Amino acid sequence: MDYKAEIKKLAKEKDAIILANNYQIDDIQDVADIVGDSLGLSIDASRVKNKVIVFCGVHFMAETAHMLAPDKTVLLPNMDAGCPMADMITGDKLREFKKEHPGATTVCYVNSTADVKSESDLCCTSGNAVNVIKSIETDKIIFVPDKNLGHYVSQFTDKEVILYPGFCPIHNRLTPIQVEKLMDKYPEAEFVAHPECPPAVVEMAHHVCSTSGLYTYCKNSDKKQFIIGTEEGVGYKLRLENPDKEFIFAYDGFTCKNMKKTSLKDVYECLLNMDNVITVDKEVAKKAVTCIERMLAIPRNE
Ligand code: 13P
Ligand code: SF4
Repeated sequence: MDYKAEIKKLAKEKDAIILANNYQIDDIQDVADIVGDSLGLSIDASRVKNKVIVFCGVHFMAETAHMLAPDKTVLLPNMDAGCPMADMITGDKLREFKKEHPGATTVCYVNSTADVKSESDLCCTSGNAVNVIKSIETDKIIFVPDKNLGHYVSQFTDKEVILYPGFCPIHNRLTPIQVEKLMDKYPEAEFVAHPECPPAVVEMAHHVCSTSGLYTYCKNSDKKQFIIGTEEGVGYKLRLENPDKEFIFAYDGFTCKNMKKTSLKDVYECLLNMDNVITVDKEVAKKAVTCIERMLAIPRNE
């Protein structure tokens, strides 16, 4: 079956838009109407006119889209696509953590469940985390669940940032030694890292940014070689947009297996059957959406 053609046909019939994260497999990026980072896709989801949003990403992303567009039907093509980092903290764990640090503003990375968002004051993505942290005036800030992103943004504020010990198992694996070896091998290359990487790795980067920030940076740079410190799904667009440039991933197998779970067949079947509908408890969503909307009012990082 020509899945791409069938998906396009079905999407039209069902008045659906297909949103895909930058880490999705090439075929999904091809068939999607919009491919983007967490911030871009949240903004898109909040503005969508179609009745149905097919979210090719992981569970928390579809949940966020649903909360931003509650009158739309949000489908997650593969229900097993989760985010291990988001699962490192629950609403209960956050409630306990907050009791240990009274008076702090709680910022949650968008890679978190709706329950965690409902307990947070402000949300952020890698695309706006620096500006989000700069906007906070309380002396103490709790940052969950990503200790690496939290550490990165703590350098942009004079407030105390209390980190929760969560991390992305894919980005956290990258070591300074691996980067050093590549820098020796490609002395002309620029190293661009996602802030989910460990602090010692981020310190070595020429530029730190979200996945979409990476596209802009590499396109505008005069350099011809780049060492990429994030998931390999970004390689598809990087190579399409910059055929004269070389992209070297910081380690072999820099792959999020959850982001790779969604296939064309999954997209086709969920559209055909209109199943895998993502919903969030109304009370939880009401609280959680406030922290997401506050975030959307804050501009992207430079
Ligand atoms: P961005 O695409 O927002 O940079 O985030 C990366 C990520 O890990 C998504 O899960
Ligand atoms: Fe979660 Fe990391 Fe995969 Fe992003 S790359 S979805 S943070 S496990």
